[in-house]
Amino acid sequence: MSQQEFKVTTAEDWARTDQYHNSFLHTKDEILDAALKNSTANGLPEIAVSAAQGKFLNLLVSSIGAKRILEVGTLGGYSTIWLARALPDDGELITLELIEKHAKVAQENIDKANLTNKVKIIVGPAHESMQQLHPETPFDFIFIDADKKGNLDYFTEAKRLVRKGGVIIVDNVVRYGRVADPEYTDTNVEGVRRLLKGLKGDTDVEATTIGTVGDKGYDGYLYAVRK
Ligand code: SAH
Ligand code: DHB
Ligand code: MG
Repeated sequence: MSQQEFKVTTAEDWARTDQYHNSFLHTKDEILDAALKNSTANGLPEIAVSAAQGKFLNLLVSSIGAKRILEVGTLGGYSTIWLARALPDDGELITLELIEKHAKVAQENIDKANLTNKVKIIVGPAHESMQQLHPETPFDFIFIDADKKGNLDYFTEAKRLVRKGGVIIVDNVVRYGRVADPEYTDTNVEGVRRLLKGLKGDTDVEATTIGTVGDKGYDGYLYAVRK
């Protein structure tokens, strides 16, 4: 393909494209805007999913009619709000967060979003919290988005906790292409590679990675269905 047909694109192009599409497909959302503002004001890192990614999670939850969601990595509850909004009245979401301060800010944001009754935050190391979960009814949907070195451990527990036919999504599996570039060996990319190696030959799930570009750069979701 020649350069004229396919010019090299930049982070600015991807961000502009996200904003352009969102201007048609998303409506102004004061609750989500306030959640991000409150998170930043409290010093939380700006690493929540993008609006388009958040809405995509929301639509996936709706698509399978999920009633029970588990989230690993709460931060300020931005993705939590997107996910929980897709739940029916009797739906529930449990979200796991290591840092007390993040959980406190998330609780404020979730309360302001009127989702207090549907969302429960568990504070502590996510792997231990997951091991302590023995739900009577398994989860329909699990979103893994905490420290990347724990990915395989979280995924292994997620397979135990999700129903057959349920969905597991893992965030940040592309990281600007670094995961596939052997020059990078930091703990984040190694954590994603460890997950991918674990998935090779894993007959418990069918999975694929879908790369994304937008106002959060070049990254991707791993999408897995429990068999
Ligand atoms: N899902 C959020 C972003 C999560 S950022 C959103 O899109 O809005 C990752 C979060 O995982 C951070 O808040 C971090 O404190 C938390 N985290 C890191 N290590 C963890 C661990 N071992 N157990 C639980 N949470 C962890
Ligand atoms: C980071 C973590 C995330 O979950 C994310 O979506 C983006 C960045 C990070 O740790 O840098
Ligand atoms: Mg993430």
